[in-house]
Amino acid sequence: MHILVTGGAGYIGSHTCLELLNAGCTVTVVDNLLNSSRVAISRVEELCGKRINFIKLDLLDIDGLRQVFAQHLDVRAVIHFAGLKAVGESVEQPLRYYQNNLIGTLNLCQVMAEHRVKHIVFSSSATVYGTPETLPILENFPTSTTNPYGSTKLMIERILQDVHISDPGWQVVLLRYFNPVGAHPSGYIGEDPSGIPNNLMPYITQVAAGKLMELRVFGNDYPTVDGTGVRDYLHVVDLAKGHVRALEYTQKQPGVFIYNLGTGMGSSVLEMVHTFMEVNKINIPYRIDPRRPGDIAACYADPSLALRELGWKTEYGLREMCRDAWNWQKNNPDGYPEFE
Ligand code: NAD
Ligand code: WQD
Repeated sequence: MHILVTGGAGYIGSHTCLELLNAGCTVTVVDNLLNSSRVAISRVEELCGKRINFIKLDLLDIDGLRQVFAQHLDVRAVIHFAGLKAVGESVEQPLRYYQNNLIGTLNLCQVMAEHRVKHIVFSSSATVYGTPETLPILENFPTSTTNPYGSTKLMIERILQDVHISDPGWQVVLLRYFNPVGAHPSGYIGEDPSGIPNNLMPYITQVAAGKLMELRVFGNDYPTVDGTGVRDYLHVVDLAKGHVRALEYTQKQPGVFIYNLGTGMGSSVLEMVHTFMEVNKINIPYRIDPRRPGDIAACYADPSLALRELGWKTEYGLREMCRDAWNWQKNNPDGYPEFE
């Protein structure tokens, strides 16, 4: 089956392309490389010995997108990763986030409809649950958002649901990721954030590498096991496999499908730091700082629907996440090279 992957050169996209190729799919990637490298694509190809059809394209270029679909008439489904994803940046540049994430998705849906490709898997996020009243989080919990990035996710979910209402032949899959971390165990592909990382795991690996002095732990007065924030971290390879399962399961049945993809287990910042130090035998200096504005105390999934319907559950634990994140960082201290 031929799958079009938007944002396939990025962190989660590259790992998913590998799983798709391993599952026997043909893969075309469109990515503008705004936050990623062409080298990620070559490395996926090397890892599995198969080719990816890579097209450098911005989803805002609807005519370019039309050409892609016209040239690849056998595309059966789209996995839509392409988007901007930094929460803080979205507060500073809301128009850019709405423009890129919403218009990019509208263009994509428009061209899919023109070519009667009606199967889409969308990268949503646990951020759409806002501040949950109880834990663990189920798919039918109320949704709300606190920043423009999260609002784009929720708006896109609604747009796709409306597309399905207008034409019930669509298969719409909304995957709500919790906190993806780690890297492929080969250490060959991984997360390559530009500038100082916002997220916990890449920050830890850069402290471990000596590129950053110390980790700032944002708050130790939350009502959690040790006062630090609790999240549902999942290995990016598990997450990538979730996409393949979701595509397979929804292949023959139209509808809107919503799944939490997480482990179902919460870990605190300090649990993460201590696991990283123990597994990798590296000290991570840290200090306690005030809470980060906008953070919630705890967030973790009830992923049982994904298990029941997709037969998907995570296989890797926190130790493997820490091992593989460090393995990637160690082997690629400056991320992907410009050329290879
Ligand atoms: P990423 O930045 O590594 O990947 C996104 C890719 O999309 C990049 O390669 C970027 O160049 C590309 N892109 C952005 N705008 C584009 C456009 N207009 N046209 C073409 N390509 C474009 O991010 P990621 O971590 O791999 O996340 C993938 C998706 O998953 C995103 O939609 C993100 O919002 C969502 N998500 C990520 C996380 C996370 O913690 N990483 C959690 C929940 C949801
Ligand atoms: C995790 C925990 C921090 C950095 C964000 C987005 C979310 C999703 C994933 C896309 C929190 C603490 C962090 C640091 C710290 N992305 N922390 N020091 O905030 O759960 O989610 O990324 O959809 O939308 O909001 O992830 O990795 O930033 O933080 O103490 O330097 O680590 O306070 O408790 P978060 P994170």
